[in-house]
Amino acid sequence: MLARAHTFTLDVLHVRPVTVEVDIRPGLSSFAVVGLADAAVREARERVRAAILNSGYEFPTSRITANLAPGDVPKVGPGLDLALACAVLAASGQLPGDQLDGQALFGELSLAGEVRACAGTLAIAQAARHAGLRTLIVAPARAREAMLVEGLRVQSVGRLDSAVRVLAGGAADPLPKPTQRPPGRGGHGVDLADVKGQPHAVRALVIAAAGAHNCLLSGPPGTGKTMLAQRLPSILPPLDHAEALEVTRIHSISSRRVTDRLFSSRPFRAPHHSITTAGLIGSAHRGGVGEIVLAHRGVLFLDELSEFSRPTLEALRQPLEDGRVAIVRAQHSAVYPARFTLLAATNPCPCGYAGEVDRCRCTEAAMQRHQRKLSGPLLDRIDLLTQLARETTPEPREPLYRDSATARAAVIDARQCQAARLRGEGMAVNGEMNAGSLARHAQLEPGAERLLRRAQTSGLLSARGQHRVLRVARTIADLAGSQRTSEPHVADALAMRPEIGRAAEPQAA
Ligand SMILES: Nc1ncnc2c1ncn2[C@@H]1O[C@H](COP(=O)(O)OP(=O)(O)OP(=O)(O)O)[C@@H](O)[C@H]1O
Ligand SMILES: [Mg+2]
Repeated sequence: MLARAHTFTLDVLHVRPVTVEVDIRPGLSSFAVVGLADAAVREARERVRAAILNSGYEFPTSRITANLAPGDVPKVGPGLDLALACAVLAASGQLPGDQLDGQALFGELSLAGEVRACAGTLAIAQAARHAGLRTLIVAPARAREAMLVEGLRVQSVGRLDSAVRVLAGGAADPLPKPTQRPPGRGGHGVDLADVKGQPHAVRALVIAAAGAHNCLLSGPPGTGKTMLAQRLPSILPPLDHAEALEVTRIHSISSRRVTDRLFSSRPFRAPHHSITTAGLIGSAHRGGVGEIVLAHRGVLFLDELSEFSRPTLEALRQPLEDGRVAIVRAQHSAVYPARFTLLAATNPCPCGYAGEVDRCRCTEAAMQRHQRKLSGPLLDRIDLLTQLARETTPEPREPLYRDSATARAAVIDARQCQAARLRGEGMAVNGEMNAGSLARHAQLEPGAERLLRRAQTSGLLSARGQHRVLRVARTIADLAGSQRTSEPHVADALAMRPEIGRAAEPQAA
């Protein structure tokens, strides 16, 4: 007898539908699985056999062939177990085969017949809906995650026999309690109010958050670079619904963490400088999503930037430009989303005290090595360079952004201006504007245009640098509530350009 069940397999971030066909015919007792199955899927035979027997069903002592179609798609992981077991039960007459129509099954089986949750359930649920299936049957631990997808009936089953009951129209197993998130100050536990002084760096952080611009904090040890960076999440705007679905989907697939609600805050990834290029960018091997993909729609924070290996930093160039990363794999190349804001921190020289004649012990060669690491194409993609000083001047009485709530409100207002202006362009923030949208929306006043042209003719700005200045100037204007981009906005943006800031940077003593 022949039976068919519907399930899905994951190819890193992409979901592929799989039909499990099971054929049982008289012959010597055997159980073969064909159709590009990986080791975990081949091992499914043992789990499925034990789970069926331990759930009180009979395991057919005949010739069983399971075909995982389509045959050219690699089948990965243990999530296909449940569909395979149900197809075996249907093919052996222990479950009416028509009950498998229109229903998708996804879960790993234990030998005792329990259904275990698998990573990527949200993506599977989206694919099930897209494929026009009515119902998705999954383990209780991930059922709430699947329920985030509208227009799909999700049934939670803790055991194989519960799945058989649900397929026959019976009740699903109860869901676990929703998870509680611990409350924190501003939802993040840290606040910009903790930072004393450094008004330029705080402002750069607000501009970076408002327009999604890449930012580099440079300064001596202990001036608050790491401290400031850690406070960026507290001023970022929330994800909108489409972004939240995208981000939750990525994290649902790549982490074992169970999510029962959409992500509301933007990801903030801070990998250690010992990370490999494969760890940062992703690798051709299975499951190889890099930090830059996990930072999609959020922030990638690289502390101690000069300590990262040069090839690792260089590999950031293409994703920083395109907002996605192409990974070449054995048979094809896969493209993953990687639209993140780069935030980096560094000391101005290896000892950290460049410019302080009595303290800096760096040789000229060491200084040049340090600068070379940060120079060139990567620096060209940094929009905002801020030099933090060891505070010598007394603090202004009332800082522009006294705490995270004030800064975040300004960021959200500025983002609303951008979203309204860029509606219909397929982008939402100034940091994403291309040459065409810049020409349409920069709205430069004559003085601003003259200033930009002067910077260009002086040879300090590359063409990319010029576009980046315009985007930042537009964000500064948005933060100021101005429709037009005027001369002070461009002057501010120019002052934060790395090639201009670096020209004024302290050299070795
Ligand atoms: N501007 C500041 N306001 C309040 N506290 C600060 C400030 N700068 C530094 N600190 C204090 O000093 C500690 C160290 O700061 P932080 O780690 O941010 O320095 P850093 O600039 O990253 O130094 P390094 O170059 O060594 O990494 C902070 O945890 C904080 O307690
Ligand atoms: Mg630090």
